[in-house]
Amino acid sequence: MSEHLLEVKDLVKHFTLNGDFVSRVAGKTQTVKAVDGIDFYVRQGETLGLVGESGCGKSTTGRLITRLIEPTEGEIKLRGEDLLAFSPKRMRETRKDVQLVFQDPYASLNPRKTIMDILSRPLEVHNLAKTWHEKRERVLELLNLVGMGSEHIDRYPHEFSGGQRQRIAIARGLTVNPELMIGDEPVSALDVSIQAQILNLFRELQEKFSLTYLFIAHDLAVIRHISDRVAVMYVGKIVESGPVATIFSDPLHPYTKALLAAVPEADPEKPAPRLTLEGEVATPIDPPPGCRLQGRCPLATSICSEVSPELVSVDTDHQVACHNL
Ligand SMILES: Nc1ncnc2c1ncn2[C@@H]1O[C@H](COP(=O)(O)OP(=O)(O)OP(=O)(O)O)[C@@H](O)[C@H]1O
Ligand code: SF4
Ligand SMILES: [Mg+2]
Repeated sequence: MSEHLLEVKDLVKHFTLNGDFVSRVAGKTQTVKAVDGIDFYVRQGETLGLVGESGCGKSTTGRLITRLIEPTEGEIKLRGEDLLAFSPKRMRETRKDVQLVFQDPYASLNPRKTIMDILSRPLEVHNLAKTWHEKRERVLELLNLVGMGSEHIDRYPHEFSGGQRQRIAIARGLTVNPELMIGDEPVSALDVSIQAQILNLFRELQEKFSLTYLFIAHDLAVIRHISDRVAVMYVGKIVESGPVATIFSDPLHPYTKALLAAVPEADPEKPAPRLTLEGEVATPIDPPPGCRLQGRCPLATSICSEVSPELVSVDTDHQVACHNL
């Protein structure tokens, strides 16, 4: 369990907003610092939960790792190899190793294709099954793996419930035997009872196939249920990362403490430290220098508005970015 399957270093994604013609002429461009120098790793076979409020850069991070978008700067290593230096051919072969499951399975499943069409397409693209018979066998096996009966194979996405559609989307991710699955809010659109079933399915599949997960969610209960380790994001930065038990019972960063104020205690005998922040979430558009939390944080001092705090190790596996711990 110690090998880092994925390692991200100083990863940056800035989007430039040019605005309208008049502001362009006046030279008023704005930069959205969606992901602004993040570091994390995911060990082989574990689940890293990436949590944070809307707009903090979670989906951008997932899209960068799958290379749906290219980073402004930084490093993404898969099995120790620099993914950004891969040739187009090597990247095409590697694409199947990293699969992304989205929040809305209905939008990501073509409504005009049957489940057989949808699940056999990646097998064709990656040359993993040749004959119709081989494809059919594999698709039936995949349906079985995600708890769906063979009677569903010739049906269309609209014939299924949200939970079933997410099972199909997970099956599609599995078609190509990936090593890393990135779930971008894969249970957020589902009812709570269905969420638990899908989270359990993710866990079963992880055990069966030694899968590694980067699991993106804004819901702390979901993150606590699924993660081995957690990385907390705030406005383009990772502010704290550590084992799930440490993050939930012994958080150190003011933002993590504030986030936890919204969830029930895991251990009422030993309540986790909590804190209240003032004001609204900061914007990633042309943020001021220093810590992103500076305008809201009761612990802020003068250095916080000048220098952005680095993510540093405070204990085995526990990293925090704050000047005043
Ligand atoms: N293509 C783009 N052009 C400009 N800005 C973008 C683009 N994509 C994302 N952003 C901005 O980057 C920031 C991070 O967006 P992102 O979608 O990664 O957040 P998120 O954490 O996934 O949020 P949510 O929980 O709402 O899904 C947001 O301010 C968003 O508006
Ligand atoms: S660096 Fe300063 S502003 Fe940022 S979280 Fe720490 S104390 Fe608060
Ligand atoms: Mg998102």
